[in-house]
Amino acid sequence: MGRFDGKVALVTGGARGQGRSHAVRLAAEGADVAVVDVVRQFDSVQYAMSTPEDLAETEKLVREHGRQFLGIVGDVRDVEQVDAAVAQVEEQFGGIDLVCANAGILPSTGPHAQRLEAWHDTVATNLSGVFYTLRAVTPGMVERDRGGAIVITGSTSTFRGVAYKVEMLNPGHMAYGAAKAGVLALMRNYAMALGKYGIRVNTVIPAGVDTPMISNEFFTKDLQADAPPGWMANVMERGPVQPGDISDAVLFLLSEQAKYVTGTALPVDMGTLLI
Ligand SMILES: NC(=O)c1ccc[n+]([C@@H]2O[C@H](COP(=O)([O-])OP(=O)(O)OC[C@H]3O[C@@H](n4cnc5c(N)ncnc54)[C@H](O)[C@@H]3O)[C@@H](O)[C@H]2O)c1
Repeated sequence: MGRFDGKVALVTGGARGQGRSHAVRLAAEGADVAVVDVVRQFDSVQYAMSTPEDLAETEKLVREHGRQFLGIVGDVRDVEQVDAAVAQVEEQFGGIDLVCANAGILPSTGPHAQRLEAWHDTVATNLSGVFYTLRAVTPGMVERDRGGAIVITGSTSTFRGVAYKVEMLNPGHMAYGAAKAGVLALMRNYAMALGKYGIRVNTVIPAGVDTPMISNEFFTKDLQADAPPGWMANVMERGPVQPGDISDAVLFLLSEQAKYVTGTALPVDMGTLLI
């Protein structure tokens, strides 16, 4: 018996990285899974974003657990695409119980990060995209009256600045921290209003995670190479963590084991926020 037998999960940004890990682990514990992912490159993002082949790999891994999978190519920046995707999942799977609002970009390096387009893409994905997702799933979850759980992916940038040089005050990087701080307000309001329906809303706060978002040549060269000692340090002197380490926390927050946990931000950061 899995912790999520009979449940339906929606994961945004699940073509690869943390979202794929959450999707596959939810399937391993019994959930049918829908993934919404844009699977294409944005001009503002310097590192390679995910591809349709990545989404197909997530599908393969979910189906290996014998669960149903629905992959939707969609952009969380676009409210109509989000509404249509949620309607499609509800139609096909009969409703949504679990949500990972995980899709995100970090356009903090390269010439494109210096343009205002990087600000708009990042706020649109990392903040508006989370709002559009929560807004779209709420009526169906309330109406079905089966409770449910939502986990938003924040970041240590939710709580602290990371810009150690003027070049890092670029639109992409500033929007990342601003958007990740903003999702806390969404979480608190949704958690307050939905608690009486048995719907819990939490945020997971990862430190650096080994995905293409930071495990790329641009991040290493532009941000890590001349960083002062202690930048991104943590008290455990380890890292980056693996996507599965974040899934451990996300699945806890989505599970019955967290049945009285709502409106909280759970760091999985090796103590980064202590420093
Ligand atoms: N990697 C890290 O160090 C780190 C640390 C803290 C928080 N995060 C956050 O974790 C989440 C997952 O990131 P990841 O590390 O797996 O990176 P990733 O780049 O591997 O995965 C992000 C996924 O989101 C998708 N996506 C991006 N914009 C989208 C949009 N507008 N609509 C739909 N899908 C979109 C991408 O196509 C990709 O598949 C993000 O919210 C990110 O900000 C990452």
